[in-house]
Amino acid sequence: MPSKKFLVANWKENKGYSQGLVDFGKILDLLRGRSMEESRELIVCPPYPFLPSFKEELARRHSGSSVALGSQDVSRFEEGSFTGEVSVRLLKEFVNYSIVGHHERRSRFFETGQVVAEKIELCWKYKISPVVCVGNKDEFRSLPPPRPGLIVAYEPVQAIGSNHPESPREVAEFYSFAARGWGKDAVFLYGGSVTKDKIRSYLAIPGLSGFLVGGASLDPVELVQMFDIL
Ligand code: PGA
Repeated sequence: MPSKKFLVANWKENKGYSQGLVDFGKILDLLRGRSMEESRELIVCPPYPFLPSFKEELARRHSGSSVALGSQDVSRFEEGSFTGEVSVRLLKEFVNYSIVGHHERRSRFFETGQVVAEKIELCWKYKISPVVCVGNKDEFRSLPPPRPGLIVAYEPVQAIGSNHPESPREVAEFYSFAARGWGKDAVFLYGGSVTKDKIRSYLAIPGLSGFLVGGASLDPVELVQMFDIL
């Protein structure tokens, strides 16, 4: 049986709340009528304040579908006096997935491998599947040992938001390295300037189970088109 495919939409700090709600509705509309499938999942990761309404909308219109919600980050702390942080304990109610260790968090918010590892552990504790971003082999090597439900997204720094994705050959080389020790213990994605036009060239990479998309995920039509290609 072919393995499950994932498309993760990372909206980052984009869209206002009203626009987000309209666009999420559009995604659900475009997917309406598709047979419910177990073989693909579209994981939408909006800004935190959108999550409760998106969850309600999902339950109202699309329950049991192949659409899920994720957060773009989690706090490294479980609860307490951590102003501005949002913990897995709070997020658990709304999401099944959480992006952890995105390059923008590592570079602009100074998150170390240790911080990323702490966040992964908290996700596991609360049964949220972490979608862990790594930009190179060293970041991959610093991850804690895999557990079922771990998703690793290879996102080379120069490919993010640049319109210059890593070549399929280089992505394949990374995955043959990453899968060597981990076998089937993790799901592997690629991210970095993925668009509808470029996505097909990666589909044949052995062991690759999908994509993490930033810019191109903001357009609901393009997002669903990419999902259809998976
Ligand atoms: P991009 O972003 O698709 O716009 O390159 C990917 C990411 O940062 O996760």
